[in-house]
Amino acid sequence: MSTPTARFFITTPIYYVNALPHLGTFYSTVVADALARYHRARDGKDSTYFLTGLDEHGQKIERIAREKGLAPQAYCDGVAAEFKKIWARAGISYSRFIRTTDADHLAAVAEMWQRLVKSGDIYTADYDGLYCVGCEESKTEDDVIVENGEKLCRIHHTPVERVKEKNYFFRLSKYQQKLLDWYASAEQPVRPESRRNEVAEFVRGGLRDISISRTSVKWGIPVPNDPQHVIYVWIDALTNYLTALGGPAAVEAGSGDGVFWSASHHLIAKDILRFHAVYWPAILWSAGLPAPKQIFCHGYLTVKGQKISKSIPATRVDPNAIADALGIDPIRYFVLREYTLGGDGDFTYEALFQRYESDLGNDLGNLLNRTVSMAHRYLGGVVPKFEYPPDADDNETTAIADRAKAEEAWTDFSPSRALEATWQLVRHLNRQIEMRKPWNLAKDPNDPERRELKFLLAQCCEALRWAALMVAPAMPTAAKEILRQLGRSADEGTWPTAWNWPGGTLEQPQPIFPRIEPEKQAALIARWMPAEAPAPATATATAKPSAPAADPTPPAEIALDDFAKIDLRVAKVVACERVPKADKLLKLTLDVGSEQRTVVSGIALAYSPEQMVGRTVIYLANLKPAKIRGVLSQGMILAAGDADVLGLSALDRDVAPGTKVR
Ligand code: ME8
Ligand code: MG
Repeated sequence: MSTPTARFFITTPIYYVNALPHLGTFYSTVVADALARYHRARDGKDSTYFLTGLDEHGQKIERIAREKGLAPQAYCDGVAAEFKKIWARAGISYSRFIRTTDADHLAAVAEMWQRLVKSGDIYTADYDGLYCVGCEESKTEDDVIVENGEKLCRIHHTPVERVKEKNYFFRLSKYQQKLLDWYASAEQPVRPESRRNEVAEFVRGGLRDISISRTSVKWGIPVPNDPQHVIYVWIDALTNYLTALGGPAAVEAGSGDGVFWSASHHLIAKDILRFHAVYWPAILWSAGLPAPKQIFCHGYLTVKGQKISKSIPATRVDPNAIADALGIDPIRYFVLREYTLGGDGDFTYEALFQRYESDLGNDLGNLLNRTVSMAHRYLGGVVPKFEYPPDADDNETTAIADRAKAEEAWTDFSPSRALEATWQLVRHLNRQIEMRKPWNLAKDPNDPERRELKFLLAQCCEALRWAALMVAPAMPTAAKEILRQLGRSADEGTWPTAWNWPGGTLEQPQPIFPRIEPEKQAALIARWMPAEAPAPATATATAKPSAPAADPTPPAEIALDDFAKIDLRVAKVVACERVPKADKLLKLTLDVGSEQRTVVSGIALAYSPEQMVGRTVIYLANLKPAKIRGVLSQGMILAAGDADVLGLSALDRDVAPGTKVR
């Protein structure tokens, strides 16, 4: 089935081995897996290459291994084994699990280095600058904040290090115009558009050459012919995308798996956009290779508005623990259906159970259960092929339309829309059952052969067969089970083509998403919540809202004109630091679209500076500027709570800074 035009290469970031997967890494990996499964089902299993793996080199890993008293390689081997186990459990169908310590990767990186040397883009110079090990990135004075005389990374809030050594540099600056032209090209090499604009703006601001070797780090790939240096971990890491396809030469020649390069899609989150959308294409061009086809950047999953991350235990959500109770499919389905790929999304257990009950239990699970049960009750488990009535089947039209929507959405990196379309078919058939009442058809005296009933159940079976194939990218286990109950296991791994129930004998009905009572839900949530955060008493209670103070005299009504005087805007926090000697105050630097503004905000007891950076908030732009603790504050950001800050304003999807809020 596979043709050269139907190729698909999808990658996840290769994760640092400083921690095991959490819901954020699970998210990227499951999205990539679902896309890969869709493309394989549609275009044949050879059409698709799905790459994930681990980033094992660099100072961060060197250090953590030392802290654990292990040699770096031994430490990495242990983490890699754990990752593989977790991904196997999650149904991650990667083509290769790459590790940057793999032998073919060492060779590919060395070859890349030599290509950069050959193109004249590498030179030596003295490096004297700051470095954040958490980011594995050098920092300028503008990138750091100073607290108690110490320079801290704005993202990690940990001290940056001064690095002074002779380094190799890469001429990134040379590629500024080429990058700008690339962003502007019609193929949408960086998606969504807001991210493309963000990197374009960064590049337009001017590019500096980057240091690409270190002498003080040992855990890495040595520079060819100068083994005192190891190659910068990001050059090492990015090259993994070529290694998997056979290395730079195979990609250049389009030989072997190298053919996949022209269909390459890098799925990442916004934390590593710059490395992928600025450094990576420039490095590839320098090495005489084409840029990737597309970089798709998704948002952050958050817990109570805080980015889920390894370093913040309160945001810990463990997909494995959830899978222990619900099976793996519900959490896979949830992340794919609930969030629009590209925007940020807040995770709650309540929303998870909500989808479990409605979409999975009441819609899909119910359609399967009632269909299979009725087939046994009325037809002895045998549902004959379509033969009545001879005219076209309206349900076929519905199914074909929903399938087209799903195909369009999967192709467009929109799992949520694809699943929504699939559910339209499921719900349609549930409605048909309600309308056509098979329990009455079964005793219709005018239809002793139960032809009408057989026809309806055949339609339900066929819709379920289609639905199973269409949800399989998201829920491979459930899909398999549905097909098994329908007696259609042979169809597994395909994509629905003809609407034509072939007739068959069904297995006994078995609930696929059994009901979970509210008390049980509450107990599970309590078990899953990190120890620090007290669990809510019931499943429906949201996380510990402090009771809002009763307000006996609400403010007077206002007219729309009054509201129009308030200039609310979307703003993005680009930097944040504490205001010295004021424990409640943070100083925020906001991107408000046209410019940057400084705002002092009394939220420091509820939010730390590193929690604020990267966040999108709602901002009152036309508040009269005021000096607060010596800092000129231009406007304010909106937060919930009166005396205490209980939460921050946010948007439910990506909206460009400066956009009006009304
Ligand atoms: O950056 N929401 O590895 P990393 C959504 N080794 N996605 C999240 C997330 C969240 N809260 N937290 C993490 C590295 N992720 C480098 C990559 S690639 C050549 C080298 C996901 O372990 C998301 O995909 O820090 C993000 O980009 C990635 O984990 C960062 O993983
Ligand atoms: Mg990270």
